[in-house]
Amino acid sequence: MKVAIVGANGQLGTDLVEEFSPAHEVIGLTHADIEITDIDSVKKILLSVKPDILINTAAYNKVPDAEMEPIKAFQINATGPLNLAKVCAEMGIRFLQYSTDYVFDGKKQRPYKEDDLPNPLNVYGNTKLSGEYFSLNYCDLSFVVRVSGIYGKVPSRSKGNNFITSILKAAKEKPEVKVVNDEVLTPTPTKWIAKNTLALVRTEAYGLYHMSCEGSVSWYEFAKTIWGELKIKTPLIPVSVNDFQHSVKRPFYSVLENHQLKSIGINKMPEWKKALVEFLKENKNYF
Ligand SMILES: NC(=O)c1ccc[n+]([C@@H]2O[C@H](COP(=O)([O-])OP(=O)(O)OC[C@H]3O[C@@H](n4cnc5c(N)ncnc54)[C@H](OP(=O)(O)O)[C@@H]3O)[C@@H](O)[C@H]2O)c1
Repeated sequence: MKVAIVGANGQLGTDLVEEFSPAHEVIGLTHADIEITDIDSVKKILLSVKPDILINTAAYNKVPDAEMEPIKAFQINATGPLNLAKVCAEMGIRFLQYSTDYVFDGKKQRPYKEDDLPNPLNVYGNTKLSGEYFSLNYCDLSFVVRVSGIYGKVPSRSKGNNFITSILKAAKEKPEVKVVNDEVLTPTPTKWIAKNTLALVRTEAYGLYHMSCEGSVSWYEFAKTIWGELKIKTPLIPVSVNDFQHSVKRPFYSVLENHQLKSIGINKMPEWKKALVEFLKENKNYF
């Protein structure tokens, strides 16, 4: 299988390239190679590479900034996947697009399945949801994979960090670190998303999938586990989302249930704490 990966030097893209490379021919595409908002750029690269499957990790990820730049966010998160899905459909290329837990409003307070009704609270979530519809409705051979609270050895390129790198930096630089205790989700390492994506694209079970670690945790409890594992001494203080001045609404609860992965028998996502401890051990030098 010849696999083209858009955003190959990003947080998720880096692990996808690593995971797919031993068994498949991988063409890693960076922003210098392709501009997903420009259909001519998409056509040109896909005509030259001719992959069997195209995986898109490119996104406008800065959730607060998207409120100020809704058109730019829509271009990258919705028009981008639309262009990719259209060209993939024309050329008979299979397509995989990543989406987010932020398509939900959090009111359910129980893990969200793929058939739960989305209701995004912010611009980022709305643009990603449009990207989902464009992917699924413009290319029949599409997978859409929703992920949540992702972290990898290469931090998000657009944000310049992930939750772990941010709080470790704060632990070094600040007298105390405040973390919200009332946003509950399932943080998930990109390595495990890459492994499960590989299993998914080896099937032909196209459609919408949730792909996060098992279990759920608040950001504060997640940070507390990191503090324990790395023996950090800086005081860690639980706070409420309401203690911060926020420019953007986020769901208080966005736990995803990997219902469809389980129903096709390929869910191999670990429990969040096991995955976190493994990540911290594997990336000791990086911190
Ligand atoms: N971060 C989270 O916690 C989270 C949660 C839920 C879902 N997700 C989703 O997970 C996916 C992967 O996120 P990530 O953290 O790996 O992102 P990332 O590290 O920011 O990587 C995105 C990559 O896409 C490239 N890119 C950006 N705009 C592009 C464009 N217009 N055309 C072509 N390439 C472009 C970037 O290159 P340049 O940097 O050079 O522009 C970068 O290589 C995204 O779909 C995101 O929405 C993330």
